[in-house]
Amino acid sequence: MTVYLVGAGPGDPGLITARGLDLIRSCDVLVHDRLVARELVDEAPSDALVISRAGLRQAALNGLLIELGREGRTVVRLKGGDPYVFGRGGEEALALAEADVAVEVVPGVSALAAVPAAAGIPVTHRGVADSVTLTTGHGADGSPPDYEALARIGGTLVLFMGLARLPEIVKGLIGAGLDPATPAAVVSAGTLPEQQTMIAPLAELASAAEGFVSPALVVVGSVVSLADAIAHATGASLIVAS
Ligand SMILES: C[S@@+](CC[C@H](N)C(=O)[O-])C[C@H]1O[C@@H](n2cnc3c(N)ncnc32)[C@H](O)[C@@H]1O
Repeated sequence: MTVYLVGAGPGDPGLITARGLDLIRSCDVLVHDRLVARELVDEAPSDALVISRAGLRQAALNGLLIELGREGRTVVRLKGGDPYVFGRGGEEALALAEADVAVEVVPGVSALAAVPAAAGIPVTHRGVADSVTLTTGHGADGSPPDYEALARIGGTLVLFMGLARLPEIVKGLIGAGLDPATPAAVVSAGTLPEQQTMIAPLAELASAAEGFVSPALVVVGSVVSLADAIAHATGASLIVAS
């Protein structure tokens, strides 16, 4: 049987794919991330085994998926956003492949564009930004991003898991040459009813977004300046620090 690595989308349960929802509704076992929408977990059949991965280390989780897959059950591993975007989905797929367990990846709507969009920010825009760089606030070993490279690359910068280190990230980017006036945003709980967006020049972003909570995405680049105009139509609420 197959282990399905299914992307749950960024938060709003309506943003899962049709195939992902079908698989949840017909699975024998659902292993889900802590932060996926409760409404999606509740879609599993009433006799399905539902396991939260909270508290399970990655190696133990991989082992569990292999064991469940070998038992011949239909297993849905439900992951936030897209399984392959900062989701360790690749590690799970590799572990399953090495154990000869069939795996299928069902992509999800990643926070990478959906969360900025929910705040009125298109991550690319003709004449404004024709590239997007995704990075994380800290590497696997806790190392900081390569600020020199990020400051040089241009386009839009989207930082996952950057909120806790925002003052350090802002300092690093400006120290590496990024204009302190670059438009920037923090979007917390994007696509959810409690979504909050702070828009500020990069130099002021960390102090302006103090008190914001995870999950949060940091967006840096000229596209952020489009949010105000677009939010009028989408109804996204923004806090703009000048
Ligand atoms: C472990 S990564 C998982 C990313 C996920 N695989 C994806 O494709 O969106 C978790 C980080 O994604 C970002 N994130 C995920 N959902 C978010 C949301 N609804 N609002 C803001 N940021 C979000 C945050 O930076 C969070 O710390």
